[in-house]
Amino acid sequence: MSKRDIILASNNAGKVREINAMLANTSFNVVPQSTLNIEEAEETGLTFIENALIKARHAARHTDCPVIADDSGIEVPALKGRPGIYSARYAGVGASDQQNLDKLMEEVSALDEHQRQARFVCVMVCLRHADDPVPLIAQGIWNGIAVVEPRGENGFGYDPMFYVPTHECTSAELPAEVKNQLSHRGQALRQLTAMLTDL
Ligand code: IMP
Repeated sequence: MSKRDIILASNNAGKVREINAMLANTSFNVVPQSTLNIEEAEETGLTFIENALIKARHAARHTDCPVIADDSGIEVPALKGRPGIYSARYAGVGASDQQNLDKLMEEVSALDEHQRQARFVCVMVCLRHADDPVPLIAQGIWNGIAVVEPRGENGFGYDPMFYVPTHECTSAELPAEVKNQLSHRGQALRQLTAMLTDL
């Protein structure tokens, strides 16, 4: 099967790993934008979809291949949806995953147990070229509970504090293939690949 290159507009190692694994058995060959020396775009949008499109359009200006981008994050409704689109920089621009996790756990620890619902959100887009007026758009949501005792070594970002009631563990304790089956990113990517295959 000859594979079609598709550029992934992300330098987040955790995301690149998950998206690569999920597209391994499709007709697409995922090329991270770093391979083409494309730098990260500045995320100036106020919604996941705006930021996903900004990232995809930025990368598409540097390549003739189609581009996919995701913008994702964790929302705690009792914290007015924080950190939301600011998940990657919650403890400040350049903050590490650990610093962001610590900041959110501190805020969650002040909430009552019954206020600790959380959800991961992912919006994923595909642009055929930078001026594509008809982007493909997919969205996934994964509901769980924010916990303040982090557990697990898998995944990345907020996974150690995201408790998955159906599996009675955090998403950082799930094997990668199980997380991909359940996750916001897995849901969005399956929708997107179905749309791409239909094209
Ligand atoms: P983005 O690169 O601007 O989309 O930021 C996404 C941020 O949301 C990541 O850096 C993580 O902090 C968080 N995030 C998104 N998806 C996940 C996930 O699957 N597990 C843990 N954290 C995630």
